[in-house]
This record gives sequence, C-alpha cells and structure tokens, in this order.
Amino acid sequence: MKIIPCPSSPLLARRIAEVAGLEMGNVTFKKFPDGELYVRVEDCSEGIIVGSICSNDDLVAITLLLDAVENAKVVVPYMGYARQDRAFKDGEAVSIRVVAEILERRAEEVITVNIHSKQAASHFKKLKDLDAMPTIGKHFAGRDVIMISPDKGSVERVKVAAEHANCEWDYLEKTRIDATTVEIAPKSLDVENRDVIIVDDIISTGGTMVEAAKKLYELGARSVSAACVHAVLANYAAIKLFNSGIRDILATDTIECAFSRVSVAKLIAENI
Ligand code: R5P
Repeated sequence: MKIIPCPSSPLLARRIAEVAGLEMGNVTFKKFPDGELYVRVEDCSEGIIVGSICSNDDLVAITLLLDAVENAKVVVPYMGYARQDRAFKDGEAVSIRVVAEILERRAEEVITVNIHSKQAASHFKKLKDLDAMPTIGKHFAGRDVIMISPDKGSVERVKVAAEHANCEWDYLEKTRIDATTVEIAPKSLDVENRDVIIVDDIISTGGTMVEAAKKLYELGARSVSAACVHAVLANYAAIKLFNSGIRDILATDTIECAFSRVSVAKLIAENI
C-alpha cells in the first residue's frame, strides 16, 4: 500500500506517509496542450490517494487516479462541493451527491476531515469523517485564551477544541442576510481584556470571521485571532481578516497554505 499524492496535497500526503510508515507512490501529472490532465502511477496496484478538492482540476485528478490505481482508498482532506448538499432551488444539481458517486464508484473507502454538514455526509455510503478540532485545540493548550464560535452551528466543534485547549468557550449568534452579508448579535460574553480565538470549520470569504472579530473588539477583547480547519480564504479573505484587526490565522493542512501550522497527518494516518 502506497500513498499517492495529488497536486492539491503533496505535503500532507508526504506527512501521512511518514507517520503511517508507508512509501510514496511515484505519480506523474501532465497537462496536454488543450488543458486535459494526464496521470500515470508507476507500479501501484494498491494505494491511498490523498488530495483535497479545492478546484475542478483537483476533482479530475482524483477521478483519473481512481482509474489508474486498482485497489484504492481515497483521502479528501478538504471535501469541496459539499456546500451544495441539497437542491436549494428546483433544477439544481446536488453537487456533493455527484462527487460521492464518483469517489465511491471506485474507492474502497473515502476519508475526509470535518465535512461541511451531516447532510453532505449523508450522500456517502463509505465515508469516514474525521474531526480536526482536537488537533486545533491542542495547539492552544496552556494559553490563557477564550475560544469563541462565530455562530450556534459551530458550538459543538468549539467545545471540542476548547476541551483540548483546556480553556473557556462561548458563541455568538449569527444571522445571514444574504450570500455575502452576515450580521452578528452579541451573546453574553465577557471578553474584555481577553485574548480571543474565533474557531470555525472553514474560512471561505472571511465574512463570518470579520463580523465576529468586529463584535469581539466592540466588546473589549484585547486581541482576536482566527483558527479553522479549512483555510479556503477566497477573494483576498486573509487581507480582509487582517484589515479587521485579526492578529493571526491558524489553519490545518487540509488546504496547504501559509497558515497551515498544524497538521492533520497523524489524525489521518491513524484512520487509514
Ligand atoms: C458555516 O456554516 C461555516 O461554519 C462557516 O462559518 C462559513 O462557511 C464561513 O464562511 P465565510 O468565511 O464565507 O463567512
């Protein structure tokens, strides 16, 4: 059994191989002049494909690898397309259902980390959904911080992170006005002169974090930082976060970027 890295997750794949004591497969990716992707895996009848789905190309890479590797498991640390977990309007495709079908048609098992929703997970038959919140929590262990969920939906996640950090936690109430506007009403928080970490599963446009940070500074927080599993950081979100006064962004390596300062390699290696 070898670890087969996808272009989206080369470092995480390498780390998983090291922790699990597995070899890396030798894989070649090429683009034809018309943009089509080509993959070749040398000498690999059994493999664990590791690749986040952050783009359409990432999905194509995994799909082709599932054909090249005879007996494959697939690890998708960040499962893209999961927000479209139902038809919100008549005629819409349920994107994650299609992705689940593609992956499960050939993979023996699908492993992911903090998929967007239970509804998204429900479209899979052989999915293992791992929780990176303990990993994030441990990073802050021993620090005098308060962890805040930016909304009620993330409360359970923040609770787990705070347990592992051994710190206090609370939440803000969020109202989404439309796709790009989020309003946050205060809960009874005592964050005055405290260092606060806003913890969420994903930072996408950054709107949720920015609104939460503004509210926390209004309430007298000394510093506000952000922590998440998946740093999508679309549309210059990191800049927006720093402009709002957020001091730091901590993310896992489900999406490899400059903010990936904790790794989910051990979590995944223990579950493959
Ligand atoms: C909501 O369901 C999630 O937990 C995140 O709060 C949300 O996806 C973050 O999105 P954005 O960064 O675009 O506000």
